[in-house]
Amino acid sequence: MMRWRKIYVIGAALFLCWNIVTYYVFLNNIHSRGVLTRLNDQLLTLKEEVHRQIRDNDDLLEEIKLQKDILLRQQKALGRPNPLDVKIPERVEPAKPVVADTVQQVYPYESYVIPVVVIACNRPTVRKCLDLLLKYRPSKEKFPIIVSQDCNHQETAKVISNYGDKLTHIKQPDQSNIYLPPKEVKYQGYYRISRHYKWALGQIFNHFKYDSVIIVEDDLDVAPDFYEYFLASYPILRDDPTLWCVSAWNDNGKEKLISRDNALLYRTDFFPGLGWMMTSQLWQELEPKWPGGFWDDWMRLPEQRNDRACIRPEISRTDTFGKIGVSKGLFFEQHLKYIKLNSQFVEFTKKDLSYLKKTNYDAAFLKEVYDAPSITLNQLTKENGLGHTVVRIQYTDKDTFKNHAKVLGIMNDFKAGVPRTGYKGVVTCIYNHIRVYLAPSESWEGYDLTWS
Ligand code: UD1
Ligand code: MN
Repeated sequence: MMRWRKIYVIGAALFLCWNIVTYYVFLNNIHSRGVLTRLNDQLLTLKEEVHRQIRDNDDLLEEIKLQKDILLRQQKALGRPNPLDVKIPERVEPAKPVVADTVQQVYPYESYVIPVVVIACNRPTVRKCLDLLLKYRPSKEKFPIIVSQDCNHQETAKVISNYGDKLTHIKQPDQSNIYLPPKEVKYQGYYRISRHYKWALGQIFNHFKYDSVIIVEDDLDVAPDFYEYFLASYPILRDDPTLWCVSAWNDNGKEKLISRDNALLYRTDFFPGLGWMMTSQLWQELEPKWPGGFWDDWMRLPEQRNDRACIRPEISRTDTFGKIGVSKGLFFEQHLKYIKLNSQFVEFTKKDLSYLKKTNYDAAFLKEVYDAPSITLNQLTKENGLGHTVVRIQYTDKDTFKNHAKVLGIMNDFKAGVPRTGYKGVVTCIYNHIRVYLAPSESWEGYDLTWS
């Protein structure tokens, strides 16, 4: 009996133990399975997340590519260069003023009266010139217009008198033949022009007694800020004895050769003419020796110019439509008709133009030119100026100047040794967005009269 009890107790104990072990094994199993499942779930979520991110990035990249294509097509349609190819230069403008008057002068612009004399002859198209002069004239009192007519041409006279009291019409009385040696007879026109100029300017200064004048020929268009330009530069011209004119003309003013800065002005040793201002003081000096013909080239001779300069703009304030004139039309076809006329009004009278006075200008100009890195013409044209935005290209003699000028697309002739727009031997232009100074060596000593 005792033996059976013992077996029962052991059996029950064993059963209990087994149950306990089974229970724990079972419990444990359930627990670890739960952790694994959760880990697995988390991994799956992460994988999905990564895939979504990759898809999103791909979508974004596609969108960027699409936008780029649209932009390129638009630029192409507008005829603009691929914006991704164009290297935008940081600066193509000359460093400006520099040492302007410490206190900006306030000039009494309201009190200035500057007449405009229009030189006319036998072209009824003077109407085009007069219409623009009247259109942009801010005041009849400040800018009286006097049309001086040569040639006794009736049709043209009628056009002029139709403007009534908007202007004054005067007529050059001497229509006699000018005696010339046979070889010079073909230049009769230039002699008539010279005679007319002398008479017209005499009227302005001796008869009407104005103290300055703007001279316009009958085949010129003027820009909207034509009057503003001359009004603002008048006191500078008057106060600086090293200036003898202000001109509206840039001889190298073709679209490709100029910057877009229409407020930019320079000094030049070359007399540009073609819409220009002078003072009565200069007329007193020139009148007694005024030449029989070719008055403009005569002005450019050292005896007359006397080392004086003119102010000229980056973008012309006049352009000429006079294809058929006293000189041949070839010059017009190849050159003059491409000069760009400024279209945006610049408020010059609100600017400080004292930087144009010699005492302020020269040192700053030379620094700008000779601080610019010197490169060769080949480096400019073939290697994009080596990445510079302002460069200097040196010329050593007449022929290198002419050859360089041809490549740059600027005028390559000289008058009394001075290249067009030149200042201290330097001619400037834009080439492929780069500001270029075509300059002699730093030890330059003056113009060579034999260069022509
Ligand atoms: C060129 C110059 C011009 C200069 C002239 C004299 C250019 C673009 N033009 O004249 O600035 O004054 O050489 O060297 O460089 N005229 C008269 N009387 C005449 C014939 C013409 O008064 O018998 C007037 C015209 O009306 C005009 C001016 O002279 O106002 C110039 O004449 P034009 O026929 O335009 O000659 P260009 O060859 O342009
Ligand atoms: Mn002309």
